[in-house]
Amino acid sequence: MPRPSSRISGIVPSGKDGWEVHSAAWARKAAGEDIIMLSVGDHDFDTPSQTIEACVTAVRGSNHHYTPLPGLPRLRQAMAAASSACTGVETTPDQVIATPGGQAALYAAVQAVLDQGDHAIVVAPYYATYPNTFSAAGASFTVVETPAEDGFQPRADMIRAALKPNTRAILINTPNNPTGAVYSRERLEQLAQICREHDLWLLSDEVYWTLGGGEHVSPRSLPGMAERTLVINSMSKSHGMTGWRMGWLTGPQDMITLLVSLNLVTTYGLPAFISIACAEALENHYGVKDIAERYAARRTIFLDAVRGMNDVTVRGSEGGMYVMLDISEVEPDDEKFAWALLDKENVGVMPGSSFGEAAAGHIRISLCQPEPVLQDAAARLRRFASTYRREAA
Ligand SMILES: Cc1ncc(COP(=O)(O)O)c(C=O)c1O
Repeated sequence: MPRPSSRISGIVPSGKDGWEVHSAAWARKAAGEDIIMLSVGDHDFDTPSQTIEACVTAVRGSNHHYTPLPGLPRLRQAMAAASSACTGVETTPDQVIATPGGQAALYAAVQAVLDQGDHAIVVAPYYATYPNTFSAAGASFTVVETPAEDGFQPRADMIRAALKPNTRAILINTPNNPTGAVYSRERLEQLAQICREHDLWLLSDEVYWTLGGGEHVSPRSLPGMAERTLVINSMSKSHGMTGWRMGWLTGPQDMITLLVSLNLVTTYGLPAFISIACAEALENHYGVKDIAERYAARRTIFLDAVRGMNDVTVRGSEGGMYVMLDISEVEPDDEKFAWALLDKENVGVMPGSSFGEAAAGHIRISLCQPEPVLQDAAARLRRFASTYRREAA
């Protein structure tokens, strides 16, 4: 075939080989083995039935046609109301644009603020797609780690040290995937200060905002930040709708108006019946409370079981769908730990180093399993951690 563009060839899988542990666990489970998968970030339950019914009604009701580029008016209205709640800033429909999932909102945000050759700061540990989303825009980025011993909270001094003359944006994610850290108001205020001082955009991925422990603070609500913050939202996690592909971006009206042109050349609008079901789900908060309570209960059960373990320390793990365990006292090489845990106890987890240096010596546990399975997994982990030390001694 003729030569592909360097842009498309440059989008390569990121992270270390942690996904190999996941793939091996998956293959063994598919072959019928009793494997507990704690490596995937997708719900173990279906979309709430009211949302499904809303979609069925909509698709039977002739909603089979093109929709407006920024989203159906009813959907934008519902997204604006959700953004008002999420960010604490009164939001109008012309300040939001619907996208096919949070990932597309992230892509739109990066395309919107960075030119070829511009630079961004990505606060790590981060969601796996972040680096390539910048590469796809021809932008460079510097990864700034959040120290594990600081609960994976962002540090202003470290971010300042990474600024360059061509830095245009900082990307953060709270509640965080993979660490479960919920960034504190104080740390977000320090980040906001940097953005104001250096006239930067803040790209704030808040797709887990309903699954946080305690108050969700959006940096968009901080002084002078609404005009320079783009918030990434999604229905995937909050409303149990990963496969429906619906998300949105919130920002200054002028930027959202520009972004409508991006939808012109990419999505050309979203499916009508899905948009209507999503609007109804947002208006009525279908499943939101139930899903949040489910993850909160799972987190409590799992962390309670883990806190009693010698040599395993919980870091971050305040919100989102994951917990992060420091296992470095047991085995400093997290990949080795994850492989051995899979081999000996049939539990698949992600090695922390897949998500960057700060998470090395950790494992990421997904809470996307029912409570009894998580309890079983915790028991297997306990047995493994104690045996492993005896063998090493
Ligand atoms: C932090 C974060 N941002 C964005 C996404 C993308 O979500 P989606 O495209 O399903 O809305 C995910 C998915 O796991 C995520 O963890």
